[in-house]
Amino acid sequence: MLSQQELKQQAADAALEFVEQVAGPDVIIGVGTGSTADLFIDGLARFKGRIGGTVASSERSAARLAGHGLKVLDLNDVATMPIYVDGADEIDANLHMIKGGGGALTREKIVASVAERFICIADESKLVQTLGKFPLPLEVIPMARESVSRALTALGGQPRLRDGFITDNGNIILDVSGLAITDARGFEALVNNLPGVVTCGLFALAGADVALLATQNGIRRLD
Ligand code: 5RP
Repeated sequence: MLSQQELKQQAADAALEFVEQVAGPDVIIGVGTGSTADLFIDGLARFKGRIGGTVASSERSAARLAGHGLKVLDLNDVATMPIYVDGADEIDANLHMIKGGGGALTREKIVASVAERFICIADESKLVQTLGKFPLPLEVIPMARESVSRALTALGGQPRLRDGFITDNGNIILDVSGLAITDARGFEALVNNLPGVVTCGLFALAGADVALLATQNGIRRLD
């Protein structure tokens, strides 16, 4: 029986095969945030000198990449990336995701938007039928904490301030539990439109292109 850590490693290794396919001196790889993304970063170290560099979705991932001697570029200097590799807190069969457990959702969405393909790496426990059991993270401008909380309560959720956490962009996170999100694209658009919401942790309007889900019997790929 493989442990969850071993499953995460398996998913990270599967994503490294995609890097192998696209690697080249001018190729930039987009890199996510979290414990699964950390394993991907550690494996990416062996591509030092074989890729042009990386763009990171958080200060945390940037530091880990730099620690391996990998070049970390400013997204403003990068026009395109063949792949962006990141984990998820939940993913459904439509490749819609909830992300932001690590609080990096805004930069993740921005970096992913510049990549041609989003490759989601996770263990199979992240695959759900309906999104929302994992509390939906929202990055919010601090002065909008209460107004956004009230709006989410009216939408049927229970928002809770993530205690003592400030994002890389200087904002707060509200984690919204009690949601069963049946129309992920519609709900993402609705929440994105609330004044004060910087980013909604739903990645459905632009979901993953490929999911590499590690199981006890190997990688299950969803396209
Ligand atoms: C960070 C994220 C992560 O991808 C998500 O929380 C999954 O993390 P892990 O790989 O540690 O389970 O969205 O903001």
